[in-house]
Amino acid sequence: MVDIPEYLLERSRERRQLLTGQDPGGPAEATATSAAPATVEVAASPAAPAQPAPQVLAPVPAPAPPPPPEPPTSPWVVAATTRKRIPLWVMPVLLFLPIWGFLYVGTLESPSQGETGLLGEGEEVYVETAACSSCHGFEGQGTSSGPQINAGELLLTFPDDPDGLGLAQQIAWVAKGTNGTGVGRPYGNPERGRVAGWFGEMAAFGDSLTSEQLIAVVLYERAVHDESEPARTTAAIMEEMLESGELVLPEAFAADVTVEEIQELLAPVFAHEQEEAAEDG
Ligand code: HEC
Repeated sequence: MVDIPEYLLERSRERRQLLTGQDPGGPAEATATSAAPATVEVAASPAAPAQPAPQVLAPVPAPAPPPPPEPPTSPWVVAATTRKRIPLWVMPVLLFLPIWGFLYVGTLESPSQGETGLLGEGEEVYVETAACSSCHGFEGQGTSSGPQINAGELLLTFPDDPDGLGLAQQIAWVAKGTNGTGVGRPYGNPERGRVAGWFGEMAAFGDSLTSEQLIAVVLYERAVHDESEPARTTAAIMEEMLESGELVLPEAFAADVTVEEIQELLAPVFAHEQEEAAEDG
């Protein structure tokens, strides 16, 4: 005995009605549908007389499957067959791309001298913290926004001298900028003839940098851009004295700081420097 679930019978009935137009309640169905669940005797042996399958189970010829639809043309195939070829003028552009990329990357990299200690701190201030490089150029070569300060130019304005006058003048200048110095007022070595506003306007950095950062960037410009050996020596001695506590710097320079005050502050460094020079000589 095989149980035929009711839903299958129901489906068969509906199908039949659809194909023949016969009423499901008609006499042909009556016998098969009366019992639920319907059961069908399956022949036990081949010898048994073939029993006619109940009508409901008669295989309903499936309607002919619809012809397979035309395989749709995928949008990417359409795109591939209809798109325009790469125009010829692109070729030289592609050829030059790597060269352009190389040049471009070259302009992004700041030429790092790999300075450490106080000069390294100065380099960071010059390139990042205060972005002096944006106006004076990565190598101090100058731009339309700031004058050249390398290749000895800076040392003409703020000379190297044994008592640190030029250094103190430069520190005061960077701390005060054009307006803090006063447009039209001289700064640096008088022989150079610089007056505030001669080139443009530079901001004051005394309030945005610590005094150590400001001194560091000034020494960096002198030692690296202008290759001043005295500045390199000063940086090394100052670094030692800061570490040992022999030199203590204020948090920041006041807006009205004077060259004399800075010279006084750095006097121990220069005294130390002269002692060392005397020992060496
Ligand atoms: C926005 C542009 C700009 C930035 C940023 C800038 N400067 Fe200047 N700098 C100038 C200009 C302009 C002058 C000339 C000032 C004038 O004409 O009054 C100048 C002058 C100088 C001078 C004097 C050069 C000379 O020979 O007279 C030094 C030194 C200097 N800057 C250092 C620095 C340092 C250090 C920084 C970063 C802490 C810095 N500058 C950031 C524009 C800039």
